[in-house]
Amino acid sequence: MGDDSGHDMGHQKQQGFTAMNKKSAAPEHINKALSLDGSVAALKAYYATWAASYDSDLAGDYTGASVLCHFFQEIAFGSREDGASVLPEPGALPTLRIADVGCGTGHVGRVLYEQGARVIDGMDLSPEMISQAARLQINGVCPYRALYADIDLNQPLPVQWQQAYDVTFCCGVFTLGHVHPTALNHLAAITRPRGLVMVSTRTTYYEASDYREVSDQLVASGVISLVARLENAPYTQDSDAHYWAYQVN
Ligand SMILES: C[S@@+](CC[C@H](N)C(=O)[O-])C[C@H]1O[C@@H](n2cnc3c(N)ncnc32)[C@H](O)[C@@H]1O
Repeated sequence: MGDDSGHDMGHQKQQGFTAMNKKSAAPEHINKALSLDGSVAALKAYYATWAASYDSDLAGDYTGASVLCHFFQEIAFGSREDGASVLPEPGALPTLRIADVGCGTGHVGRVLYEQGARVIDGMDLSPEMISQAARLQINGVCPYRALYADIDLNQPLPVQWQQAYDVTFCCGVFTLGHVHPTALNHLAAITRPRGLVMVSTRTTYYEASDYREVSDQLVASGVISLVARLENAPYTQDSDAHYWAYQVN
């Protein structure tokens, strides 16, 4: 994307979904998640109770992980309109070091593994969600190389991960009651220069938070560049999301 100076939805070149899907009311488990106060204690307690039924509750309802991973493939390997590719050719996917922050039960890891990724580390605040991810099997193999619990994205991430990943994903976490927009900085910090940061923001979160200001500030200060964005793309039955692809400078 040529203009990376801001996020003006009206002017910036972007891939867009022109028609918003008709939305249903949010189910109770999603409403409860969105009304958390953002504290570690509240988030951990809630996801401890939701972990076991998270996948079945969201079955057929949640497309966010799939949309973000397919957006990644377009951005990373050059099927974009402008022909630009950001990473080496698709053959490099099995060796790319990928972080999935806020991995939950592993929806992003599953799609990435099916796409061919083989070096995927998952991190999450909730030990119970991480336990579910550890049980995930694709053809008898867990898609994650390693899984880490008790990782709070509202804090700087561990020093040993700084610039350690080629691509960092964060899907379903920039949502009401979860993380601050400044967490975007922590995702950039664990990604190597010229690597990608792939993020979803639920539309209600984008509108209610200062995500746009934080993102603009990180772009203006040269920490990251905005490569592309999907606006109002499918996410859950009750809400769309915006999807963001940044390159770390
Ligand atoms: C809606 S789930 C999304 C999970 C997964 N990425 C997906 O696409 O299905 C949100 C996840 O973010 C995690 N989470 C919430 N707050 C967090 C924080 N401050 N730091 C790290 N993870 C957090 C939760 O434990 C939960 O697993």
